[in-house]
Amino acid sequence: MKWWQNAVVYQVYPRSFQDSNGDGIGDIPGITSRLDYLEELGIDAIWLSPVYASPNDDNGYDISDYQAIHPEFGTMEDMDELIAEGEKRGIRIVMDLVVNHTSDEHNWFVEARKSKDNAYRDYYIWRDPVDGQAPNDLTSAFNGSAWTFDEDSGQYYLHLFSRKQPDLNWENERMRQDVYKMMNFWLDKGVGGFRLDVIDLIGKLPDEKLTANGPKLHDYLKEMHEHTLKGRDVMTVGETWSATPDSAKLYSDPARNELSMVFQFEHMMLDEQPGKTKWDLKELDLVEWKQALSKWQVAFKEDGWNSLFWNNHDTPRVVSRWGNDDTYRIESAKCFAILLHLMKGTPYIYQGEEIGMTNRIITSIDEVDDIESRNMYHERLEQGYSKEEILHAINVKGRDNARTPVQWDSSEHAGFTTGKPWLAVQPNYTSINVEQALSDKESVFHTYKQLIQLRKDHPAIVWGDYILLLPDNPNVFAYERQYQGEKWVVLASISDEKQKVSLDDMPTEYEVMVTNYNRSAVDWNSVDLNPYEAFAVRAGEIN
Ligand code: NOJ
Repeated sequence: MKWWQNAVVYQVYPRSFQDSNGDGIGDIPGITSRLDYLEELGIDAIWLSPVYASPNDDNGYDISDYQAIHPEFGTMEDMDELIAEGEKRGIRIVMDLVVNHTSDEHNWFVEARKSKDNAYRDYYIWRDPVDGQAPNDLTSAFNGSAWTFDEDSGQYYLHLFSRKQPDLNWENERMRQDVYKMMNFWLDKGVGGFRLDVIDLIGKLPDEKLTANGPKLHDYLKEMHEHTLKGRDVMTVGETWSATPDSAKLYSDPARNELSMVFQFEHMMLDEQPGKTKWDLKELDLVEWKQALSKWQVAFKEDGWNSLFWNNHDTPRVVSRWGNDDTYRIESAKCFAILLHLMKGTPYIYQGEEIGMTNRIITSIDEVDDIESRNMYHERLEQGYSKEEILHAINVKGRDNARTPVQWDSSEHAGFTTGKPWLAVQPNYTSINVEQALSDKESVFHTYKQLIQLRKDHPAIVWGDYILLLPDNPNVFAYERQYQGEKWVVLASISDEKQKVSLDDMPTEYEVMVTNYNRSAVDWNSVDLNPYEAFAVRAGEIN
């Protein structure tokens, strides 16, 4: 077994986690100061969103020096201390590796831009104009063309994200070797691995308008493994919006020597209108959603591994998105926790999720920091959408929803900073905060803590086969896990209303392992479920 197979990973978005010096921006000493809290929760690793030098066009996902810490976040000594203090508590630090692109202020791009024959020119993707225009109509994820014209050299460069995030040219071997050197710098420091940002894009063929899953993608990953990861006990998780169960095996089959696992997003896109953008909303169909998640649960035997998550720094918060963050905030937050943490794979918790933090509501674009939302707002206004429609989409799907500061206590600015927070703290911090959650045995936090411990204590959660129950029920998500004569049954009602279900072939003797309504018994012929009720039972024998 690998350490990351029964691990739980906690994502820290450093800007919003904990400020230590009063500048309103979270920083590395702030994270170190909260390690005891994370140890109490029981997590094994932190996925640390970027802390490198960056002009912050995309909050650190535009890196200008991979081997320097952004002064806003601290120093390299602070980083070394975080790694060392984490190690003392059994918490590994997994770095964010953003190598599809750099910042336009990275030295490689500064050089590349100087002239067509500069030694770094080919580290990026340049094309001549076609009929005085961009080479083709590829678009950037942050709106507009993916090509920006460089006046000085008369060529366009490619950026699948903002114009300040030029794409690296993975065809260039010297560039690849420089990336591997940089990765080894971090691995030699003792980090626990990498989360690889939009890694399915690195093999792109821009002339053919092919961005994800280019023909050489897996060759590059194998080469990366050979030069960096091989022989090291680290985890890697690739961000792959395009992944299918088949392609996920290519990345994560241990025999192929590429990555440990990938983040797949199939279940994250089912509340959008197919073929449109994330802003074009549609009601979630629970049956479809259960099928998507279940497909991934049964996809792998020995030939791959799943990651499990409901939210991250790019998505809304789960309790607001699919739960009820008003009447049933606590129940629904625990319900989604139970549902996810008893599945097969490595669970990821996004900061604040463990206390049931909610989306925030904005009424004006001036409250928005995120480049993606801001660009979309202006583009859609021009296209004739109403302000109300656009702000509604941002309230539902905008990335700032997850980026408001962590709510630590009920003091001013939620204990996040003594200064002015870079993004406003949510007004509900007075009641939803870590201090409250720690002191209340019935809090969302304690359910998370319990679930993490259950995974450590019960190999059935890590290894058991998964079977979807009640596949056609539009309100209740139910599944079984089976492992060496042991059977777990998990039921979760994703509904504001009471539900009733019946299940066949259920164990008569069982133990209730986790519940969000103090349930102690189940009548399988007629299970009455409260709104967002979730529980799991464990039976010794498979009937
Ligand atoms: C995915 C990251 O999670 C997101 O925050 C970022 O904007 C893009 N990749 C570009 O790096």
